[in-house]
Amino acid sequence: MQTRVRTATSSTNVARVLVKLFKHMLNVWHFYASVVLMILATLLSSLIPYIMRYIIDAGIVRRSFEVILNRSSLLIALAAVSSLFRLGSGYVGSLATQRVVHMLRASAFESMLRKPVRFFSDVAVGQAITTIVNDTGRVEGFLAFEFRMLINAVFSAAISVVFMFYMNASLALVALASMAATVIVNAYTASALRPVADRFRQQLGNVASIATGDIAGIKTVKGLGLEKLESKKFEESNSRLLDIGVSMARRRAVLTNANALIFGLATSTILLYGGFATLRGEISVGDLVAFMSYMAMLMWPLSMLGLIIANIQTVSVSARRIFELIESGVEEDDDNCVELNNVSGEVVFENVSFGYTENSPVLKNLNLVIKPGERVVIVGKPGSGKSALLKIIPKLYRVSSGRVIIDDTDIERVCTESLRKHIAYVPQEPFIFSGTIAENIAFGNPNATVEDIIRAAKAAKIDSFVESLPDKYNTVVGERGLTLSGGQRQRIAIARALVRNPKILLLDDPTSNLDAETEKELLRDLTEISKGRTIIIATQRPTVAAIADRVVVLDSGCVAEEGAVSELLQRRGLFYRMFTSMVSNEGEVG
Ligand SMILES: Nc1ncnc2c1ncn2[C@@H]1O[C@H](COP(=O)(O)OP(=O)(O)OP(=O)(O)O)[C@@H](O)[C@H]1O
Ligand SMILES: [Mg+2]
Repeated sequence: MQTRVRTATSSTNVARVLVKLFKHMLNVWHFYASVVLMILATLLSSLIPYIMRYIIDAGIVRRSFEVILNRSSLLIALAAVSSLFRLGSGYVGSLATQRVVHMLRASAFESMLRKPVRFFSDVAVGQAITTIVNDTGRVEGFLAFEFRMLINAVFSAAISVVFMFYMNASLALVALASMAATVIVNAYTASALRPVADRFRQQLGNVASIATGDIAGIKTVKGLGLEKLESKKFEESNSRLLDIGVSMARRRAVLTNANALIFGLATSTILLYGGFATLRGEISVGDLVAFMSYMAMLMWPLSMLGLIIANIQTVSVSARRIFELIESGVEEDDDNCVELNNVSGEVVFENVSFGYTENSPVLKNLNLVIKPGERVVIVGKPGSGKSALLKIIPKLYRVSSGRVIIDDTDIERVCTESLRKHIAYVPQEPFIFSGTIAENIAFGNPNATVEDIIRAAKAAKIDSFVESLPDKYNTVVGERGLTLSGGQRQRIAIARALVRNPKILLLDDPTSNLDAETEKELLRDLTEISKGRTIIIATQRPTVAAIADRVVVLDSGCVAEEGAVSELLQRRGLFYRMFTSMVSNEGEVG
């Protein structure tokens, strides 16, 4: 297979995810600057208790006014310079964070665009949006705060320990033991947070999915009077989120309280042990005060350490999802894929089988030869595989076996972009982007000139409608603008396809939203449009067959009949039955 799908190297464990995140930070120089400034700041501020010790022992105890004055001014200077460094470190640190998160968000989005179409039916849209918006936000918060705090805590602790040992080894051991206890207790309790955090995020995605689903289907919800039912469904999901959130809050609360307790214990142990040591004359009062200051100085970063460790667990969940989105299942062409240049537009299906899922084939061993410039209409009952047949031509989905061949080249071997350059595909339910009509048409070809756009609109018979609007082609449509009718949408989508000037035009049920009159009009125009290109139209309406050079009738994924309309009508088979039942139905209606 020429085009392969790269699968996820799922980084399941926290450390791997964090290392990955860390490597991203290493890519921006701001990060190094931030760390250097932070180390300098920490070094300077950890000199403060040491100087305090000197002020007490040499200044206060020995009643030297000069020592007190000199060293106090030094203290102020140190504090000032240290906080300046800290400020600088914070500033460049957040620049680093912003850059890294910006890059992650961009990669996640880009990677999402490169996923196979299949991805979007397997993954709930709410989950993907949560990853791109919320998870990146979560990582940003972590890098901006917890991550810096972590580095700060580690450096402060290391430097303080060195000073403490320098002053008195046994007292330092007591301090060290209490610090170790804090870290161990925190790390242990924090690991209990991880599964809850995972569930919380999962549930948040579920809540988002219900909301996006209901917003997208708001007309159906209102039309069927489902508001109460949907509210209830949402509330159920939302309550579950609340439950998980509450249990997460409870565990967090326990964590922070555990810290206060340990610090209380540590402080009193040092006071007790140090107090006796002072009385015995083993250490000076200055030593004891310096020790207490080091403990107090470490209090904040160490008490944060619990929260940081807990958040590392939760943020690793977010980071993992981002990396998974970035790395998993991206469609990639093989390095030696073939460029498809001028094509004549021949499309051959050779023993093609295809299914959306492995066990339910939609197309079965299908054989079909479509000549260059031919106008082929595919008819068949709902679910017979018409849309599937169109979707495999631009490789939106891959065949499970057999080959689709364009101008003698198996499309599996063709570079996807070069394949799609020759094809315009108008889906059954065309999408209108939020933007102007001109922009919506130009989506088909970013290089299109205004003349190209108008020509395509004229061919798609939407021009006179657009001209009747006050802002004409600059009318904003879609989410934040004018709402178009189904028929108008389809025509804009056809114009969007035509502006590409494709050699192969694929239309999926282009007349499903049109009345009989407009359908006739569009069909007449399609005859003109199709000159010089291959055009394949899938439809449920046998009347469309009127413009076909050849009609192909699909039945359960196989070609049941094919031939000119007149032939098929004479044959009195499946097509004949579809045609007559439709005509009689329309007769009843009319
Ligand atoms: N994204 C999907 N995932 C799984 N199954 C799908 C998907 N889309 C369609 N199917 C199934 O594949 C079969 C063929 O669908 P297809 O859309 O090709 O039919 P169709 O002939 O175009 O029908 P219609 O006339 O209603 O448009 C159907 O049974 C349908 O339920
Ligand atoms: Mg269809």
